[in-house]
This record gives sequence, structure tokens and C-alpha cells, in this order.
Amino acid sequence: MSAPRSWQRCDDCGHELDELDPRPRCPVCNGLLAIVHATTVSRQTFDQCASPSGVWRFADLVLPTAAPMAVSYPEGNTPLISRSRISDWCGIDELRVKHEGLNPTGSFKDRGMTVGITQAKRIGARAVACASTGNTSASLAAYAAQAGIPALCLVPDGQVTTGKLTQTLAYGARTLLVDGDFDACLRLMQQASVELGVYLLNSINPFRLEGQKTIVFELLRQLDWHAPDWIALPAGNLGNTAAFGKAIDEAMAHGLIDRRPRLAAVQAEHASPFAAAFAREFDQLVPVHADTIATAIKIGAPASYARGVRAIRSTNGVAISVTDAEILAAKGVIDAAGVGCEPASAASLAGVRKLRASGTIRPNESVVAVLTGHILKDSGILQQIHSPQSIAPDSANLPVRIGASVQAIGTLLDSMPIGR
Ligand code: F0G
Repeated sequence: MSAPRSWQRCDDCGHELDELDPRPRCPVCNGLLAIVHATTVSRQTFDQCASPSGVWRFADLVLPTAAPMAVSYPEGNTPLISRSRISDWCGIDELRVKHEGLNPTGSFKDRGMTVGITQAKRIGARAVACASTGNTSASLAAYAAQAGIPALCLVPDGQVTTGKLTQTLAYGARTLLVDGDFDACLRLMQQASVELGVYLLNSINPFRLEGQKTIVFELLRQLDWHAPDWIALPAGNLGNTAAFGKAIDEAMAHGLIDRRPRLAAVQAEHASPFAAAFAREFDQLVPVHADTIATAIKIGAPASYARGVRAIRSTNGVAISVTDAEILAAKGVIDAAGVGCEPASAASLAGVRKLRASGTIRPNESVVAVLTGHILKDSGILQQIHSPQSIAPDSANLPVRIGASVQAIGTLLDSMPIGR
């Protein structure tokens, strides 16, 4: 068998570029680039791989030639969890959550970043950069630090949680607070990366998506390659939706699975141009001014819209929106089950419940809901709960102030439901 080979191809005009070509977009038509692999894999290929990384285990469908020099934490190998509280709440017996918040920097972004930074190193990038709602920047900062490459992050001023900003700064990325929203940051960063020659690592970077595909490969492998009926995920800029669609295409093409899971992309109500377009049979993208407590997905003009459309169409999937109150209610259930996640992640579960209630997901269907970020990513949510306009569910567990006495503790204990 010949050695595996990969190259880049433009989504729009089909123009092909070498694997090591550093240009961020198609030089002919400015379209987005995707990675193509000429290889043959089987389930055993991955079983036999000794890599400690849940991304590089799947190197043959990620970036085979780069695997020996990977900049890896390692990452991936996240659990697939069943909890009766969570499945009862959705009314679906066979519901699992895949907790991507358990990656090294607390989000799924690490899967794409190990590949993106490895590629940056291969091409000798003088600096790497991104625009971010906080998780990409935290991940970029960590992997750039490991690789010894200077990192630049543009984030919307006042709209990134303290935890995410703290990580980005602590790992040493030069961080710029921009007077504008995420969409403005991304526009600015795309322009700056071209003019200033820094390597852009937003999810339009095709190498990022190759890493993010492994969320799907890994969950399929955990299910012994029995594809679930549905995979639900939160959607913002649509990079992850695009990666999931590509992963499912490739898993089918290589005979790893024999049917396609349907994708459910879930957006927050006031940041849902993709769900709105889906409802109009994807006639066109109408950007919005985004607003939601789920700051990670507060995005109004998704850069990977066309890829997102393809992913939903090719999997017979759906795109829907849920309210902030529904997101917080879902987070309440996930947290109370002892699992925990950041608000944006809970959108996937809120979406599953809604799709079950509307009959789109049937009770006997199997579902994997992806939780994209860690519970500690958004400590500011406690302030939300305390604020006068709080939309937190009544079950929110607020702290209680007491005098320093055993009696006060005893009184409180008496009021608690014991052995629930
Ligand atoms: N969930 C979390 C926790 C995220 O941080 C993001 C995106 C998404 C879901 C949506 O993924 O954009 O590929 O559709 N966060 C980016 C960031 C925008 O900068 O951290 P998407």
C-alpha cells in the first residue's frame, strides 16, 4: 500500500494546494480550503495506534505525515457518559453526553489546536493568531506556548468570561480587547493575518477541522462503531458542525459505520442565523447582531455557513434555536447530575429536549449530545443568577450567609432534603 498522502482543496473551485502551502484561503477564488486524504483505513488502524492522544490516534484521517512531530498535550480521550437524570429530563433512554470540556484547556478546541499548531510549526509560522469568544484563545495560547510560537488573540471587550481570559493571559498570548463583537474581531483578524503575515488559527483553518473531526471518530469508536441516530452540538461559527459533517462523510466512505447519524446543530435564540436559515430551507444567511448569556456561541455571522449547510443536508440533520432560559435549565440538569458544563455546551441538551418534545427525535432513538466546555469556564454565571433580571431556574442553588456557629449549620441541615 502506498504511503498516505494529504493535500488542500478549495471548497468552491476545486483548486488544489500542497499540504504545506501556508495560504489561509484559495488563491484563485478566496474560497475555504479543506484537507483531502488519499489513504485507506479500517477500524483496526485506530485500535493499533499507540498514540496517547485521542486526536492523533486517528492520524491517518487527520494529518498522517505530521503525526511524528505533533505538538500534543495530549488531548481527547474524553468520556461518553450516561446519567439517568439527564436522559429522564429529555425523555430519551439511550442518551449519552460526550464531555469535551475534559480536554486539557477545558474545551473541544484543543482537538483542533493540536493539529493547527503542529501545522504552524511545520510551515515555520512566525506567529499564530485568532479571534475568539474565549475558548479558542485559551487553547491557542496553551498550544502556542508548548510550541514556542508567539500568539496573538483578539477578543470582544467585556464579552469573554473571566476564566477564559485568565487562561489566555496566563499561557502568555498577547491579548487585545477589541471594541466590537466576535464577528468584528474575526473580520479584523482575517484582514490583519493577510497583511501582517501571521498564521490564522480560527476554524476556517482546515487543519483545525481535521482535529475536531476526532470528536465524532472517538465517540463512534466508543460505541463500537454503532452509529447513534443523532449527534447534537452547540453551534456558533459552524466550524464544529462542518467538522462533524466531514467526519461522518469519511467514516461512511471508509466503511467505519454503515449509516449516518443525523446532526442537530443548536443555537441560542438571539444568535441563531443558521437555525433561521434552516427554517427557510437554507435560502441564504442573514447575519444578526448576536445576544445570549452563552457567550461562547454569541456569533451573528458564522464564517463556515456554507460548510454547515452541507453538513446538515448530508446527514439529513436539523438546525434549531433554544432560549437562554432553556439553556440555563439544561445546564441546571447537567450540573445537578454531577457532570457540569459551561452554558453554551448546555445548548446541545436543551436542543435535544426540544427536538424530543416536538417529535423530531423519537423516544427509542439513540442520541449523543456533545458538551463542548468545562463547568469552570463561566464562573460569571453565578452573577447572572444573583442579578435582578436573573433568568436562572428556581432550582438554582444559591449560597447562604450564616453566622459562624454550629447551630446555624444545624438549622440549615434540617432544611435540606436528605437522601434525595
Ligand atoms: N461551544 C463552545 C464551548 C465554544 O467555545 C464554541 C465556539 C462553540 C460551542 C461553537 O463552535 O463556533 O465551531 O460552531 N467558540 C469559539 C471560540 C467561537 O472563539 O472559542 P463553532
